[in-house]
Amino acid sequence: MIPDGKIDFTFTAEPAGLYDPLRYMISIGGKRIRPRLCLLAWSLFRGEPTPEVLEAARALEVFHSFTLMHDDIMDRSPLRRGMPTVWKKWNEDTAILSGDVMLIDAYRSIARCGSAAVLDVFTETAAQVCEGQQFDMEFESRDDVSMAEYEKMIGLKTAVLLACAARIGAMLAGASEPVCEALYRYGYELGMAFQVADDYLDAFGDEAVFGKPIGGDIINCKSSWLTVRALELAPDKAALLEALKAPAATPEEKAAKIAAVKAVYVSLGVDKDATGAIAAYSRKAMDAVAGLGLDAAKLEALDEFVNSLTGRVK
Ligand code: IPE
Ligand code: IPE
Ligand code: MG
Ligand code: MG
Ligand code: MG
Repeated sequence: MIPDGKIDFTFTAEPAGLYDPLRYMISIGGKRIRPRLCLLAWSLFRGEPTPEVLEAARALEVFHSFTLMHDDIMDRSPLRRGMPTVWKKWNEDTAILSGDVMLIDAYRSIARCGSAAVLDVFTETAAQVCEGQQFDMEFESRDDVSMAEYEKMIGLKTAVLLACAARIGAMLAGASEPVCEALYRYGYELGMAFQVADDYLDAFGDEAVFGKPIGGDIINCKSSWLTVRALELAPDKAALLEALKAPAATPEEKAAKIAAVKAVYVSLGVDKDATGAIAAYSRKAMDAVAGLGLDAAKLEALDEFVNSLTGRVK
């Protein structure tokens, strides 16, 4: 694994009401995938990370954690990284403002990289993540989301940030434009695999390991890879839609709805199909970097990174 221990995640102390939630969010962990990916891309071309690339890595993680702080309000999620979410532990107003200052903090870091081109990629990506989040919310009230629409949505909300992480690492290392673009594609396909895995784990994971409540997507009527595929395959679409729209106000209703929807997924084999889709995206990620002439050890490192994310249980 690429070390991320050199990244400085300290925040201004006061007012505590604003900064404590940031410190909390960062200190409760997270897999640090985006900074690691940035440093992995850097390490393909250069040695020890410079302060500039460490700032970029920091910006990616702080930005990502900001999106999660707001996402948890939007998704009404009570648990994140195995701990109460910020809006649950404090309140929604706190999660909004602390999230805002995290976004500002991320921009401070990315500006310190000293590259206008990097700032451009980061900014474009940040806007795309918002677009993806908007599609994600709009899809909650639709039952006719196609696989193409779903792919576009997760491409925006999730894959572009991994793509950006890989590209920025390569850009700061001085790689050529075609190489940076290939690493962007690698990160993008990896991000697609990663979000499908997240959707899969949201239904079939182990809450104690995943760190998020199982069945949250089902309760919130999210369009996930599983729902979209199930609606493609279901012989009785009306029955599936009824299960997907069943009320889930009480704990009993929630448990019954999650069990019923998961039973349909299993009967249609969409859980297995999801595993296949994750593998297909993973292959595409490696295809993107196959022609770069990287030595075997570097390709192995990129492959290992894919496997560590797609074989994940959290
Ligand atoms: C969660 O991202 C949001 C998705 C894009 C699925 P991570 O799974 O990387 O979250 P942390 O940072 O490890 O908690
Ligand atoms: C997360 O998607 C995407 C962003 C936060 C941008 P999810 O809503 O699936 O993420 P989790 O499952 O809450 O981590
Ligand atoms: Mg969400
Ligand atoms: Mg969420
Ligand atoms: Mg999710």
